[in-house]
Amino acid sequence: VSGPLAGRNVLVTGAGGGLGRAIAVAAAAAGARLLLLGRTVHRLEAVHDAIVAAGGTAPILVPADLRTLDAALAQQIADAIGEQCGALHGLVHNAAVAGPRVPVRFHGDADWDAALAVNVSAPFRLTRALLPVLEAARGAVLLFVSADVARRPRAYWGAYAVSKAALEALATLLADELASTSDIRVNVVDPGALQSALRARLFPGDDVTALPPAEAPGAAIAALLAEPAAHGSRSVLALPAAAGR
Ligand SMILES: NC(=O)c1ccc[n+]([C@@H]2O[C@H](COP(=O)([O-])OP(=O)(O)OC[C@H]3O[C@@H](n4cnc5c(N)ncnc54)[C@H](OP(=O)(O)O)[C@@H]3O)[C@@H](O)[C@H]2O)c1
Repeated sequence: VSGPLAGRNVLVTGAGGGLGRAIAVAAAAAGARLLLLGRTVHRLEAVHDAIVAAGGTAPILVPADLRTLDAALAQQIADAIGEQCGALHGLVHNAAVAGPRVPVRFHGDADWDAALAVNVSAPFRLTRALLPVLEAARGAVLLFVSADVARRPRAYWGAYAVSKAALEALATLLADELASTSDIRVNVVDPGALQSALRARLFPGDDVTALPPAEAPGAAIAALLAEPAAHGSRSVLALPAAAGR
């Protein structure tokens, strides 16, 4: 498949639905071979089939639960990618979970632990294991999908806000470390409010269908894989009118 991402291998986490699916579909349309990571295999298979039906390169499925991903599983994933692909040109840390918005006083342990595990610890472990295969590619791109509560934490956003602030700190220090030691480019990207299961969980009373679908930010994020913003920068795809995410 020709396009700006032809010949490039791109791993997207949380690729089974929402924004992750939209990023994967757009990156495949731009020529990339996708590695679709997610915990629900039939959803990954549906994205695989949609990409193939659209004429894209058949993706590789990477079933994994990021809630329990440890160093050993991260290394297995990295080894398999090294063997099957040789190099990884793009890594998009998109998967995330959000609990219901509650005051800290009533925040549940399970929601707290899940957000920190999926939204921060898994990206850390995956990045650490995948750095060698990213370094094996020329000009690999490492994208961290964040949200504006990372920089503007406010009432009731709980572990989701804390986890996104930690994710941005991880991205920022990685950008600083890698600037002098590799040609991997690191960006944080905020897609803005969009229709998704995560959004519906955060705002159960709202009509999510009034929000933009995931396709537009998905395409914009896929474009960053071909022409990333300046190393270490933060791209905000949010429309000015999109508030309260
Ligand atoms: N929606 C918004 O308004 C909005 C705004 C700002 C930022 N964002 C960010 O955009 C990104 C995508 O969110 P979304 O709105 O597209 O949410 P979503 O539709 O809920 O998608 C989240 C994805 O993460 C995967 N995931 C969750 N837990 C996992 C686990 N334990 N192991 C593996 N995969 C797991 C899900 O897989 P399953 O299909 O298996 O559940 C799903 O594919 C997130 O980083 C989010 O913070 C979203």
